[in-house]
Amino acid sequence: MDFKSIIRDIPNFPQQGIIFRDITPLLAHPHGLTSIIQGFQTKFVELNIGEVDAVIGIESRGFILGAALAMSLGASFVPVRKPKKLPSAVYRVEYSLEYGTDTLEIHQDALAKGERVVIIDDVIATGGTAAATAKLVQQTGAELLAYGFLIELDFLNGRKALPEVPIVSLVNY
Ligand code: PRP
Ligand code: MG
Repeated sequence: MDFKSIIRDIPNFPQQGIIFRDITPLLAHPHGLTSIIQGFQTKFVELNIGEVDAVIGIESRGFILGAALAMSLGASFVPVRKPKKLPSAVYRVEYSLEYGTDTLEIHQDALAKGERVVIIDDVIATGGTAAATAKLVQQTGAELLAYGFLIELDFLNGRKALPEVPIVSLVNY
């Protein structure tokens, strides 16, 4: 499936000068989600990352892809959430944005030590979100095997911010 031809480009959203890559038409395609998940699985097999125990999905759009991948792999799904959404004890990581900071959280008991996990999100831009999520995984003692992104914005060089594990992206701009 030619993902790029189905992803919709929205100029000047959410700000002037930004081209927003809208994945909703791809999710709406009857085979879109299946093709994305097959794309991730094929690349993870090629990279020989081995058995995956849990898929970490980053709120919000990472939930859609992460949950579908977890189901397909027969793995657990674990959400990383924006602050004050998770009800039990959490690990918390604050990370900087261009202006200000953002926070992500994971339940402290969501992953067991040594559990083999992948982190999934729709987009890697600056890499701040994905790097913060790796720090949360590290705090749980789980083992990060790889990252999977539907879209990578190459010109922002986000992968430079990430730990040294394989990074899969299905569409590059
Ligand atoms: C977007 C996108 C990634 C993140 C990438 O999420 O879904 O999660 O930004 O940016 P970065 O690599 O520069 O950190 P956003 O925070 O807009 O929220 P959403 O997923 O809830 O829409
Ligand atoms: Mg997001």
